[in-house]
Formats: sequence, structure tokens, C-alpha cells
Amino acid sequence: MTLQQIKKDKRINAFIDHTNDYLKAMGYTDHGHRHLNIVSQRAKKVARHMKLNANDQELASIAGYCHDMGNFMGRTQHHYWAGLLFSQCYLNEAKPDDVATVMKAIVSHDKDDLKIVDKITACLIIADKSDVHRTRVLNKGMKAIKEDIHDRVNYAVTDNKLSIDDQKKTITLALRLDTKFTDIMDYFSIFVARMNYCQKAADYLKYEFKLKINNTMLA
Ligand SMILES: [Fe+2]
Ligand SMILES: [Fe+2]
Repeated sequence: MTLQQIKKDKRINAFIDHTNDYLKAMGYTDHGHRHLNIVSQRAKKVARHMKLNANDQELASIAGYCHDMGNFMGRTQHHYWAGLLFSQCYLNEAKPDDVATVMKAIVSHDKDDLKIVDKITACLIIADKSDVHRTRVLNKGMKAIKEDIHDRVNYAVTDNKLSIDDQKKTITLALRLDTKFTDIMDYFSIFVARMNYCQKAADYLKYEFKLKINNTMLA
């Protein structure tokens, strides 16, 4: 089972397209190919730094690509739907152990169900929760963007870099925030939970999570 194979899978892509349409209709930020490719690449990058073996790195990237594809069946339980859809596609086509590993990471990535019991899950959580950027805001006009705090904060972030220092054991998310659109308090009011998830995941990996906004180290 490889990421390349998953990306070409018509079933997976149909779930992603439906999720994109569903969440766009509900006014959410991007959870489609843009978000999934970034999360997939980042999860693999973190996994590589954590020295996971090649198969586990691939599984982290697959979990990243598939983690949000269940949203079209309902936002609240989207992580369960995504895990189950994944198993329906791959249980008979890949090693059951690999399928279960990906399912577990997907199901564990969201809020109250966020549980970190393995490194692949931790890599996915850091990759997912760190994706805040202007390009996540779907085109709906400046007035609407300013009225929605999620849109406003995402729109304000013009640069986002995740870097990992294996010597110092730090994972740093560096953001450039355009304060014309939001202020740091706005950012924190919605992102504090996400940054906590990143911190918990980094702790699990025995790294320190750091947040830098406009060149100021905040945590
Ligand atoms: Fe999600
Ligand atoms: Fe996500």
C-alpha cells in the first residue's frame, strides 16, 4: 500500500471530492486536496525525523491524505467515518496490520477522541493541527471572511513553516500573521486547542513544540 496508489484511487478521491463540496456548502475552510497534500507531506516529514521505518513513514503519509475524507457523512464524527471508509477500501487489498495502523491514526486525530498511543498518530496530529494558512480560506468575499473568526485567522496567516531540529529536539511552527486581518488574541482564541494538541503530540515524541508568530517565540 503506497501513497501513490491511494492518490490514484477513484474511491478515495470521490470521498475527498464529496467532503470538499459538503464543507464548502457549510462554509468551512479547505479540507480537500490542498489540506490533505500538506498534511500528508508534513506527517511523512515528521515521521522521517522521528526515524520511523520506511513503511511507517508511508503509513503516516497515507493517514495524512485520508484523515478528513469522512466529513461528507457528518462533521462531528468525520474521523470515524474516514477510518471506516478507509478500511472498506483496503482491508482486503493491503496488510490488515497496516490498515489498522492507518485507521487508528485517522480515528485519533480529532478533538475529544484525540488519543496518542503511537508515533504515527502523533505525526498526523502535528501535521493536521499546524495547517493554518490564507490558502485554506475558500473564496467567499472579504466581508464574509472578516465576519468568520476561522476564516479571518486563516486568512491572516500569510506564511507557515514547520521545522524540526533533531539536535535540540524541537518542532517549531513559524507563522507570519498579517495583523490587518486579525490580532494575536483572535488567533489564540481559536488556535489554543490546536496548539495544545501539537504540544501533546510533540511530548509523546519526546520533542518540544514551539510556536513563533511574526518572529516572536511564544511558547
Ligand atoms: Fe479532521
Ligand atoms: Fe484535517
